[in-house]
Amino acid sequence: MRELTKTPYEDWLAYFEANAKARAKETLAFDERPLSERERQLIGRSLAQFQLGERSEGHNLIGRITAYSHEVGEPALTRLAVLLIDEEYRHAAMLAQFMEHHSLPLLEHHWVDSCFRYIRRFGGLDLMLTTLLIALTIASQYYRSLGPASRSPMLKRMCVILREEEAAQIHLLNQLIEEVRGRRPSFGYWWRGQAAKVIFGGALLIVWFNHSRIYRRSGIGFAGFWRVNWRQWRQSGTPPTGSINPTLAHLLRFNDTDPLTGPENGQ
Ligand SMILES: [Fe+2]
Repeated sequence: MRELTKTPYEDWLAYFEANAKARAKETLAFDERPLSERERQLIGRSLAQFQLGERSEGHNLIGRITAYSHEVGEPALTRLAVLLIDEEYRHAAMLAQFMEHHSLPLLEHHWVDSCFRYIRRFGGLDLMLTTLLIALTIASQYYRSLGPASRSPMLKRMCVILREEEAAQIHLLNQLIEEVRGRRPSFGYWWRGQAAKVIFGGALLIVWFNHSRIYRRSGIGFAGFWRVNWRQWRQSGTPPTGSINPTLAHLLRFNDTDPLTGPENGQ
């Protein structure tokens, strides 16, 4: 009888809780050698912007999702939102640990982060979720390039963890956005999808302008950057695969085709 009342969001809850416990047991090994001056110049300010983005406050998002969970009778959604934001804070803490170890300064403000915060504070649930999905999609591809761009074993390991966890977050958000938009009139559904694409394209240009050195260092030019990000955007509804938590693998009906790590993604 209990199985009949179980919702997909309860499966997601099980994943986030199991994953948080598994990660808590893992200790990151600190780098033994310092970063070269060239690496510091390459990574420092760029990584600081993404670290700042990872610690964007989530109270408004949690509040909106809580209201939505009451509206649709999905109580698991509120806890899920809290776990999602907790995971983002853990990402921020992990990056800060690396930056502090190498005496790289943290950022307190950046205009791009301020724009995202403004939208999250005043936007509706759809817009809030969409901007978060945009940020996660871009960050996921950024970490994919950041690992190879550095010789730091600590940073490379962190990038793997970040990508694994953000792949799951992207899939969850896509599911949630589809559900939220599906409750609106069909024209609204189409219009919102088009608006999201425009925002995503604009965000990509800003990211390239600010972080192109990281992508170029890992062998990705503008065309490749544009292509892999749009591919990941289109495939955000495709379950992630690879080295992922067993609970998530079960949840997503694990398959052995990884659309995000195949040879066509520009690397
Ligand atoms: Fe993150």
